[in-house]
Amino acid sequence: MQYKSQKIAQNFYTAAVLLFLVQVIVGIVAALQFMWPDFFFLNFNTVRTLHINALVVWLLMGMMGATYYVVPEESETELWSVPLANLQFWATVFAVGLVIIGYIVMGINPQANMQVFGTNLLNEGREYIEAPRWADVLIVISVLLFLFNCVMTVLKTKKFTAVQGVLLGGLTFLALMYLPGMFYTKSMVMDQYWWWWVVHLWVEGSWELIAAALLAFMLHKLLGTDVKVLAKWMYIEVGLVMFTGILGLGHHYYWIGTPKYWLWVGGIFSSLEPIPLLLMVWDAFRTTRETRAPVSNRLGLYLTVSHAIFNFVGAGLWGVVHTLPQVNKWTHGTQVTTAHGHLAFYGAYVLLVVAMIYVTLPSIRGVKEYNQTRGYLSFWWMTISMIFIVITITGAGMVQTYLERLFGLDYVTVKANYNLWFWIFRAIFGAGFLVGVLILVVDYFKLGKEKA
Ligand code: HEM
Ligand code: HEM
Ligand SMILES: [Fe+2]
Repeated sequence: MQYKSQKIAQNFYTAAVLLFLVQVIVGIVAALQFMWPDFFFLNFNTVRTLHINALVVWLLMGMMGATYYVVPEESETELWSVPLANLQFWATVFAVGLVIIGYIVMGINPQANMQVFGTNLLNEGREYIEAPRWADVLIVISVLLFLFNCVMTVLKTKKFTAVQGVLLGGLTFLALMYLPGMFYTKSMVMDQYWWWWVVHLWVEGSWELIAAALLAFMLHKLLGTDVKVLAKWMYIEVGLVMFTGILGLGHHYYWIGTPKYWLWVGGIFSSLEPIPLLLMVWDAFRTTRETRAPVSNRLGLYLTVSHAIFNFVGAGLWGVVHTLPQVNKWTHGTQVTTAHGHLAFYGAYVLLVVAMIYVTLPSIRGVKEYNQTRGYLSFWWMTISMIFIVITITGAGMVQTYLERLFGLDYVTVKANYNLWFWIFRAIFGAGFLVGVLILVVDYFKLGKEKA
C-alpha cells in the first residue's frame, strides 16, 4: 500500500463481508419458507426485504471501500480527510442498523409502520429500496460526503485518470439515480415508472460503469497492462453500456400501463445490452493472455476474470433470454426472473467486490504473498452452489410459466405442489453457498496474518 489513508477501505470491506453473511443466512430462511411458510418468527415478506436490502447495502459498502482505495492510488496522494471518511463509515453503519431494526419491528408489529409527516416511519414498500424517508436523507448525506472527500482528494494533485473519471462519474450517476425513488406519486403506474429508474439504471447503468472502471484498475494492478489500452476499451464498454442500458429500461415498461412504444424501445435496446458485457470478458482474457510477467496474486486475477465471465452470463445471457416482449409476456415475474436476478447480482457485483477485496487487501495488510487456498475454496463453493441454485429456479420458473400462464393453474397450487422439489434443491444448494461465504469470512479475517 502506497498511502496510509487507503487503509480506510478495510472498514468498508469488513462491514460488507459480515452483511454478506447475514444476507445469505436470511436467504436460506426465505428458501425454507417456500416449503414451510411459518418456519420463522418473521414472515417471508420481511425476510425477503432483509435479504435483498442487505445485498444492495453490502455491495454499495464494498464499492465505497474499493473507491477509497483506488482514488488515492490514482491521484498519488493521501485521502483528503480520513476523519471524514471514518465519520461517513460509522454514520452509514448506524443508519443501516436502525433501518434493519425498523424492518424487524415492523415484521413483528406491522402497525408500527405509522405515518409521520406523510411518510412511512419504518418501510416505504418499494422493493430493494424499502428504507424509510429519514434513512434516505441520511444515505444521501453520507454519499455526498463520500463523493466530496474523493473529489477533494483528486483536486489536491489534480491527477485525474481515466479509471478514476469513470469510477467517480459512475458513483455520481448512482447518487443521482437514488433521487427518483424518493417521492410518492398517487398513480401506481408513475410510481413504478420512477422506481425502475433507480433499480434498472443502477444495475444496468451506473453500477456497470463502476464495474468497467474497477475491471480496468484490477487488470492494470495485477498484470501491469498499459493504461492507455485499458482506458480505450473501458471507454468503448462504458459508451455501449449507456447506449444500450439507458433505453433498455423499457424492458420493465411492457406491462405496467406505460405507452406501447416501450415494447419496441425496450426489446431492441435491451437485446443489445450483452454486447458491452461480452467486450469486458474479451478485455479480461486478452490482457491476461498478453502478459509475460509472472503474476503473484493469481487468486485476484482468477476472481477478476470470473467476474467478467459471470457478469456476461448472469446479466447478459440470463437477461437476454426473457427480455423480448414476446417472451417476457409469459415469463414476467416468475422464478425465471428470480434466477436471472441471482446470477446477475452474483456475477456482476458480488464477484466484483470479492475480487476487489482480494486484489487490494494484501497490500492493505502489508503482505506481498498470502495463502490463496481458502480463497479458491470459497470461490468454488459459492460459484458451483450458485450455478445449481440458478439451474434449479430456472427449472421452477419454466414449470411455473407453463402451468400458470398456459394451463391457468393458480399461483399457490403450482408453488405448493408442482414446484416443491425445486424448493428442496434450492435450499440444499443454498446451504452449499453458505459454506462458501463462511470460508470467505474466515479467510478475510486471516488474510496476511499467517505464513504464506
Ligand atoms: C448486472 C446487471 C443486472 C442485474 C444485477 C439484474 C438484476 C435483475 C433483477 C434483480 C431483476 C428482478 C427485478 C424485480 O422484479 O424484482 C431483473 C429483471 C429483469 N432483467 Fe435484469 N439484471 C441485470 C442486467 C440485465 C440485462 C443486461 C438484461 C437484458 C439483456 C436484463 C433483463 C431483465 C428483464 C427483462 C427483467 C424483467 C423480468 C420480468 O419481467 O419479470 N437484466 N434484473
Ligand atoms: C450472492 C448470493 C445471492 C444473491 C446475489 C441473491 C440475490 C437475490 C435477489 C436479487 C432476489 C430478488 C429476486 C427477484 O425478486 O426476482 C433474491 C430473492 C431470494 N433469494 Fe437470494 N440471493 C443470493 C443468495 C441466496 C441464497 C443462498 C438463497 C437460499 C437458498 C437465496 C434465496 C432467495 C429467496 C428464497 C428469494 C425470494 C425469491 C422470490 O421472491 O421468489 N438467495 N435474492
Ligand atoms: Fe433492467
